[in-house]
Amino acid sequence: MSDDIIETEECQRKDPMDLFHSGQVVKICAPMVRYSKLAFRTLVRKYSCDLCYTPMIVAADFVRSAKARDSEFTTNKGDHPLIVQFAAKEAQVLCDAAHIICPFADGIDLNCGCPQRIHEDLKRTVDLCQKAEAAGVSWITVHGRSIEERHQPVHYDAIKIIKQSMSIPIVANGDIKSLKEAENVHHLTEADGVMVARGLLANPAMFAGYEETPFQCIQDWVDIALEHGTPFTCFHHHLMYMMERITSKQEKRVFNVLSSTSAVLDYLNDHYGLG
Ligand SMILES: Cc1cc2nc3c(=O)[nH]c(=O)nc-3n(C[C@H](O)[C@H](O)[C@H](O)COP(=O)(O)O)c2cc1C
Repeated sequence: MSDDIIETEECQRKDPMDLFHSGQVVKICAPMVRYSKLAFRTLVRKYSCDLCYTPMIVAADFVRSAKARDSEFTTNKGDHPLIVQFAAKEAQVLCDAAHIICPFADGIDLNCGCPQRIHEDLKRTVDLCQKAEAAGVSWITVHGRSIEERHQPVHYDAIKIIKQSMSIPIVANGDIKSLKEAENVHHLTEADGVMVARGLLANPAMFAGYEETPFQCIQDWVDIALEHGTPFTCFHHHLMYMMERITSKQEKRVFNVLSSTSAVLDYLNDHYGLG
């Protein structure tokens, strides 16, 4: 069935558990619908990201339709270690999707409902995590907010309590925007890994210690995205995120409405000598 997945190359799997056993905090690119695709994963891996997740894929569609498989998932030999995230309501459907993807992935993640990660009554979250551990999951990522919370500070203390109640690795997620913050969250939670979403969109080089997106990283994105045939909207959106802090309001008014790859390349060349 794996022949149905085009633009993929089967390759030797790496066990991501080796990363957790290395004694270093594992630096992880979060699952991001529309964004954590192959080209972006290639970019963040170049800048010290240890482990990448695909965007969430609806397991039922993936199992049912070759078209869904082709559009939702591409990978290549360098794209490892890789975790494929599924959303599934039925265990059998998740198993079927895992069976199809297994030659191409190093692990499967079940989206348990972003952003419902911790419960108001922390005991219920600990209980759920312990049940997942007993069921055999390899590690758990915790976003430190309850369902009602959107912009409130992340409860790193809750992640620490979960970590202390479990034997498997725990990954901390939420509001990490730099390598220093990642180290601080590791210190506060004692988590084995840190997962970052928006921080990496804004600065894909953050795990390599850059405080701002370096121009080289923008150039790398242009090269990688063009090489992978990234659709224009995705190519452009990533650049908007990366250039958010370095462009003025007036520059954004021009850059954000550009509507073709050639117009973007001309802009980058004229303003920054890139492209
Ligand atoms: C654009 C975007 C897409 C996301 N898509 C997913 C997804 O597919 N699956 C998932 O579990 N979480 C998804 N999330 C949630 C993130 O993985 C992460 O838990 C959340 O953004 C908090 O982390 P952050 O503070 O580092 O951004 C998404 C977040 C963003 C910003």
